[in-house]
Amino acid sequence: MQKFEFIQGVQNSACHRCIWVNGPVIVGAGPSGLGTAACLREYGVPFVVLERADCLASLWQNRTYDRLKLHLPKRFCEFPNFPFPDDYPEYPTRRQFIDYIESYADHFDIHPNFRECVHSAHYDATLGLWRVRTTAATDSAAARSGPQVEYICRWLVVATGENAACAVPEIEGLRDFQGQVLHAADYKSGEKFSGKRVLVVGCGNSGMEVSLDLSNHNAHPSIVIRSSVHVLPREILGKSTFELAIFLMKWLPLWLVDKLLLILAWLVLGNLEKLGIKRPSMGPLELKNMKGKTPVLDIGALGKIRSGSIKVVPAGIKHFVGSNQVEFVNGSQLEFDSVILATGYKSNVPSWLQESEFFNKNGYPKSPFPNGWKGSRGLYAVGFTKRGLSGASSDAVRIAADIGSLWKQETKQQQKKTVSSYVSCHGRCISQQF
Ligand SMILES: Cc1cc2nc3c(=O)[nH]c(=O)nc-3n(C[C@H](O)[C@H](O)[C@H](O)COP(=O)(O)OP(=O)(O)OC[C@H]3O[C@@H](n4cnc5c(N)ncnc54)[C@H](O)[C@@H]3O)c2cc1C
Ligand SMILES: NC(=O)c1ccc[n+]([C@@H]2O[C@H](COP(=O)([O-])OP(=O)(O)OC[C@H]3O[C@@H](n4cnc5c(N)ncnc54)[C@H](OP(=O)(O)O)[C@@H]3O)[C@@H](O)[C@H]2O)c1
Repeated sequence: MQKFEFIQGVQNSACHRCIWVNGPVIVGAGPSGLGTAACLREYGVPFVVLERADCLASLWQNRTYDRLKLHLPKRFCEFPNFPFPDDYPEYPTRRQFIDYIESYADHFDIHPNFRECVHSAHYDATLGLWRVRTTAATDSAAARSGPQVEYICRWLVVATGENAACAVPEIEGLRDFQGQVLHAADYKSGEKFSGKRVLVVGCGNSGMEVSLDLSNHNAHPSIVIRSSVHVLPREILGKSTFELAIFLMKWLPLWLVDKLLLILAWLVLGNLEKLGIKRPSMGPLELKNMKGKTPVLDIGALGKIRSGSIKVVPAGIKHFVGSNQVEFVNGSQLEFDSVILATGYKSNVPSWLQESEFFNKNGYPKSPFPNGWKGSRGLYAVGFTKRGLSGASSDAVRIAADIGSLWKQETKQQQKKTVSSYVSCHGRCISQQF
């Protein structure tokens, strides 16, 4: 049995410290976790936010490239009850978005516990409570051996995001490639790649924008498009394509909106097949709804492809050959100095949450939108609907309202049955936090 020691708030490094949280534990201090915390404030519910990094919104601060801007107009990216400043442009820059997040946390007085990586969480059926273990180390071997803290709570909000880990494909021979290989999450700018032949693997928004940035810095990017992709203009006749789609969907069925979008995209962008870019048979909105695949919103990469500054390789990679060659499935072979894997991201939930009823093996809620925000036994998920910042905001509002009403009921009951009845299960080891 686990032995706990807690001596006047000072933790013995060999032992576990155990903390009772009077309210939900929120895992992740990105937009989803912060949005939920801010909404909980409105209901007066105390909470603890646990964050593995040393800053708010670490994805935006540490794992995005310099030239990144929001790709939807700012009004679709706002958090609940906190508009963007009026002087922000229509598409705020990465830096402006980070400043906005920091003032949001300030405004709602949210102070996450930084450098606390959740490495396990499970529901203790005997206690009827969640047990959430953290460590300062993000590496799992160190996590098991290092000092740990255990949080005990009634509600657990999973806000670790759809981009918590990089998706890195196994490609034969890649290990022997002598040039630099990095994931798009570690790419900052094309400055260092000037004059280099760079293979960009993946043609989502990251792959397209990294290719554009490389080309702007006088590198020679080639982008691998192994299947098909919808590329839409970010704006049509000065109006955001996203906003136009939302407007049309008020009046028209989705399939018709898809058809109209594709006609407009053809008028603005021309025939992409000529550039080696095939469109999926499903329309862009249907594909997003059915498979969660986001269309690329073009902000200049297509122009560079047309001018030949970005080359398209319309085939998957067969394998890497020798120190710097790549053979593609269409039989062509090319040499490169560097490789950037813009191959997407994955959820890390299966690596730490010991639960299989609500989350699937890929770390997403099993119930499709709009039902995937609430599980049983006080478990919630925010930001897992592939609907970006606006999806995260609506999850946050729902979750806070739900916990808010439960908390009200439970605190009334707890006036009779005090917290000490829970605490007694753990004797002297449990401190309280909220
Ligand atoms: C390059 C890029 C650009 C994007 N641009 C847009 C855009 O313009 N508009 C849009 O709507 N969406 C965009 N997105 C989607 C993006 O995922 C969301 O905007 C937003 O960041 C999601 O917020 P989140 O809080 O759910 O996840 P995240 O921002 O990823 O935050 C999750 C937090 O959880 C922490 N965490 C993870 N695991 C643990 C753990 N075990 N213990 C403790 N903490 C943990 C992470 O460190 C992180 O801080 C973009 C994504 C990428 C990769
Ligand atoms: N604000 C912005 O401007 C901005 C910028 C970047 C990203 N984002 C958002 O961030 C999220 C992630 O985007 P992302 O572009 O990083 O990932 P993504 O949309 O998941 O795209 C991953 C790409 O990698 C390809 N791929 C994966 N494995 C491959 C392999 N072995 N060989 C060749 N290709 C491979 C995929 O091809 P298949 O389709 O064939 O699988 C796909 O084209 C999205 O929501 C996106 O909208 C937004």
